[in-house]
Amino acid sequence: MSNLSARLNDFKTLWHLLISRIDGQTHAERLNSFYEGQAAGYDQFRKRLLHGRCELFESLPVPENGVWVDLGAGTGENAELWGNRLQQFQRAYLVDLCQPLLDVCSQRISERGWSHIKAVCDDATTFAPPESHVDLITFSYSLTMIPDWFQAANHAWDLLRPGGILGIVDFYVARKYPQADLRAHAWIQRNLWPVWFAGDNVFLNPDHLPYLLDRFQVISLAENQGSLPFLPLLKVPYYILIAQKPV
Ligand SMILES: C[S@@+](CC[C@H](N)C(=O)[O-])C[C@H]1O[C@@H](n2cnc3c(N)ncnc32)[C@H](O)[C@@H]1O
Repeated sequence: MSNLSARLNDFKTLWHLLISRIDGQTHAERLNSFYEGQAAGYDQFRKRLLHGRCELFESLPVPENGVWVDLGAGTGENAELWGNRLQQFQRAYLVDLCQPLLDVCSQRISERGWSHIKAVCDDATTFAPPESHVDLITFSYSLTMIPDWFQAANHAWDLLRPGGILGIVDFYVARKYPQADLRAHAWIQRNLWPVWFAGDNVFLNPDHLPYLLDRFQVISLAENQGSLPFLPLLKVPYYILIAQKPV
């Protein structure tokens, strides 16, 4: 991409993030309305916003011949992050409710010739693969966009086989009084970021991480902060969780 088209893409994405109205009666309609103007340039802009995805996929184990489900997969860029390890899966489902992003995902799958990977237009809270259980489920920056996030987490639990792995990376804010082993965030962070992101229907929630820690067995957890494009001095908290459904 040339410098000029990269700048135009940034401008278009910023327009949709900051100014454009989100319309629609249903969650799917609102997602389509938000993303349809940004789908083509999504990957380029989100690389500088959605931190920790590479670290998550580098750290996740690949179950040999296993089934992977990415819930809220967007353009399917996460599949690239496995590198050659992607071939070790027997099957993978990249699930999203937003058709404009899924179109980019489907194009990626066909260009790469990934015959064992399928883009599926479905809701993360109800998606039912043909397999009764799966080995690995990931959410990357999708739990904060799913209104019934607790249903999505519970559904991931139901879909995973005992011993199956959950990998999540997402923005969050700490509770005012976090449990002893979790980070605390300043008042300004706990109050600014939920309001900032809510305009784009991204809901940072102090209960996401405690709920996941309550349901799943932790393998590793990192709590970090990442910068925003064009606002490098501001840092948004995000976590990377790898956990397991107990055997
Ligand atoms: C911030 S994007 C992240 C996309 C991708 N995982 C990534 O890391 O770039 C959030 C994604 O969640 C999807 N999403 C939101 N609610 C959903 C739902 N109920 N079911 C499936 N996907 C959903 C959105 O359409 C969007 O693609």
